[in-house]
Amino acid sequence: MHHHKFNDFPTDFLWGAASAAYQVEGAWDADGKGPSVWDIFTKLPGKTFEGSNGDVAVDHYHRVEEDVALMAEMGLKAYRFSVSWPRIFPNGRGEVNEAGLAFYDRLIDSLIAHGIEPVLTLYHWDLPQALQDEYGGWEDRRIIDDFEHYCVTLYQRFAGKVKYWVSLNEQNYNLTNAYQLGTHPPAVQDRKRFFAANHIAFLANARVIKAFRQHVPGGLIGPSFAYSPAYPASCAPSDMLAFENAEEFTNLWWLDAYCFGRYPQAALAYLRETGEAPEILPGDLELLREGTPDYIGVNYYYTLTFTDNPLGGQTMQRINTTGQKGTTPSSGVPGLYKTTPNPHLETSNWDWAIDPTGMRIALRRLSSRYGLPLMITENGLGEFDKLTADGQVHDDYRIAYLHSHLKACQEAMQDGVELLGYCAWSFTDILSWLNGYQKRYGFVYVDRDEQGGTLRRIKKDSFHWYQSVIASGGKTL
Ligand code: NOJ
Repeated sequence: MHHHKFNDFPTDFLWGAASAAYQVEGAWDADGKGPSVWDIFTKLPGKTFEGSNGDVAVDHYHRVEEDVALMAEMGLKAYRFSVSWPRIFPNGRGEVNEAGLAFYDRLIDSLIAHGIEPVLTLYHWDLPQALQDEYGGWEDRRIIDDFEHYCVTLYQRFAGKVKYWVSLNEQNYNLTNAYQLGTHPPAVQDRKRFFAANHIAFLANARVIKAFRQHVPGGLIGPSFAYSPAYPASCAPSDMLAFENAEEFTNLWWLDAYCFGRYPQAALAYLRETGEAPEILPGDLELLREGTPDYIGVNYYYTLTFTDNPLGGQTMQRINTTGQKGTTPSSGVPGLYKTTPNPHLETSNWDWAIDPTGMRIALRRLSSRYGLPLMITENGLGEFDKLTADGQVHDDYRIAYLHSHLKACQEAMQDGVELLGYCAWSFTDILSWLNGYQKRYGFVYVDRDEQGGTLRRIKKDSFHWYQSVIASGGKTL
């Protein structure tokens, strides 16, 4: 029997990489697909960097065999992808589009043939435009039935093949942008509508998790949450209180709803006072408790540091779609806290704090509060990668980032965290929702500058690095 050192990664650890349908597939109207809210929104003037959109993206839809062959060459044990709802139901509900399902048959069968575990995300923001138009998408409870019908269609199709499922991806980040910052569709800025839409999304999440138990026995499902652990700017009691407020409003609001079926106390009391609390109908909280996850998917990029904000004012940074850099937004409540740069941390060229210790803290906080297994469903570094004269991409900065974060995973496991796997974001370069194609995350570079836009795939240095990490089962870290 093989003897494991205490700090070894488990032999069944899911060494993965991730993507999302709108960011890679392209083929936006192929084979009967209906438009998503992103297909429409990105074409409105001024919404994205230089008007970029996912009409073609990296054309994964037509290059799926080539891409999976690269994954196999790299030695990936898991690949996380999302299904595009309007590919399956062009109108959001009603007739199923068989050609849409057939694409995911091809992808999943090909992954399995190469020994790569599929991790299927049910919703990564590409809501069918038809449902936005018909009843306002996440603001209407009718979406709960429609989402369940869509999910059950996928459960029935893929139950025997897919074990790991993600319900909603980054509901917190997506709906904060959609209903507070106004930078994602439907571009609303209204805190009451924000909390109302989130409540309905929690109900939909619980409903599809409940249905999952009947349709996918032996499978595991959970949401993937954008977790930016809160830090206090100092040990001043006012900063500590701001940090407590921020942790409730920016994190626990979602995590406690998913895992405990209730909202955190001080945040709920505050919102009842302001009249912005969501309407909770009889049966809602029971449903939330019946549909709690099997594991929590963690999308970790950075920590956020909070300080007291007695004078109110700016609490949320906006994503900058016109300039070079991005910023790190968080859902905000004026007067309770505001973000401030952390003087102990370096930032990336996209202004995101680089904090591997924050990842260890994130994993420990979640594991100890909720007692669930965790999976890193995203972690990675967005950069302005350059193809050099030798025809290569020397992304040593990405290797350093991923290395330090994988070490943090290992340390968290030594601290007692049950971690199922790690999906780096992303496998190939992808479309950044608002920042176009200049912000690259992949192990595989996608060349957009060549004549004719060939979208040729080029393995970056990080590809070879991750390949050897996987081959060693993490021992080379
Ligand atoms: C999280 C989102 O899920 C993903 O779609 C996005 O590209 C990354 N964050 C990077 O911002």
